[in-house]
Amino acid sequence: MTKTLSAEPSAATPPRALPLRFATDLVAWQKQHGRSSLPWQNTRDPYRVWLSEIMLQQTQVSTVLDYYERFLQRFPDVLTLAAAELDEVLGFWSGLGYYSRARNLHRCAQQVVSEHGGIFPASALTLQTLPGIGRSTAAAVASFCFSERVAILDGNVKRVLTRLLAYSADLAQASAERTLWDLAGELLPPAEHMPAYTQGVMDLGASVCSTRQPQCLTCPVQSLCAAHREGRPESYPVKTRKLKRSSHALWLLWAQRTDGAVWLERRPTRGIWGGLYCLPVFDSEEALSDAVPAAARAKLLPQTPFVHVLTHKDLHLKPFVSQLTARQTLADELTTQDRGGAWFDPSAWPALGLPAPVRKLLEAGAATGRPL
Ligand code: ADE
Repeated sequence: MTKTLSAEPSAATPPRALPLRFATDLVAWQKQHGRSSLPWQNTRDPYRVWLSEIMLQQTQVSTVLDYYERFLQRFPDVLTLAAAELDEVLGFWSGLGYYSRARNLHRCAQQVVSEHGGIFPASALTLQTLPGIGRSTAAAVASFCFSERVAILDGNVKRVLTRLLAYSADLAQASAERTLWDLAGELLPPAEHMPAYTQGVMDLGASVCSTRQPQCLTCPVQSLCAAHREGRPESYPVKTRKLKRSSHALWLLWAQRTDGAVWLERRPTRGIWGGLYCLPVFDSEEALSDAVPAAARAKLLPQTPFVHVLTHKDLHLKPFVSQLTARQTLADELTTQDRGGAWFDPSAWPALGLPAPVRKLLEAGAATGRPL
């Protein structure tokens, strides 16, 4: 069955017929070949589904699996999460990256408790009003848990749908993306098939319909796919605006007392590693040097610099060790300003929310006996 597009055609998107069999074929394929035993499947508990969707943003399934289980053991429901300290939540998130996700997760749990009586709203529209829940995540939760007929549209799904429809409008343009949302909405199956459909479109995007070398030969919707007919599935999606990568150097002060305690301070909420504990960060070696006692300056030990790659930025990290005696203290600038700093014994590090590269650095130092 086909239906003519109702969306406004443009030069880049000529009128075409929507392949309405897509949903039927995809649901059948999902039930036979899709993923069915991931720990966040086979449940309609919105807390568990929401948590998995947040963890899976920008993070691979294989990485999420361990974090998900550990997180749920400590925070089994939304009430437990809302009542926890943010620091502890960040500790359980440590290493997953994109820490604004964890801060929003915590705020969201508190809002579900304070504004919705501890029960997740049962519609995508209301879910979207909560911190950290965007349109696609809201739709994933609502379709999995409540069988709501709402479309998801994350990066993988954009790839699947733009290929299916040979949709060549530039997704860098908000209007092109809006039209794709509309089209995604028109492809949906009846409500009872929504969970399998949503999982199916995710599974197809994560396996067969890969960015490079898509496996069209094994694709369940090959006969419906306009990009396949054109013989150029890899040309989709079209997005002109390229992310500009930048590069930034940061000097890290690794001040350690003879008893092994390290000075860590809380990062400002906004910006890199927001809200996490970190070695004090400086913009230059001079600024770092000014923060240690005059008598310890000559003994600052440069460590091997390393690069930490973020999505839009390469961070060139330059750690310097300062071994302080019991009587030496850090400059007033560090200890008396409201930078949230304190000495932390190595036994306290595992529970702290630390950026992954800083944790690695400290643990390597502790394991090799350096810098002591
Ligand atoms: N990525 C985002 N959501 C997912 C899900 N439910 N299963 C597998 N991968 C996903």
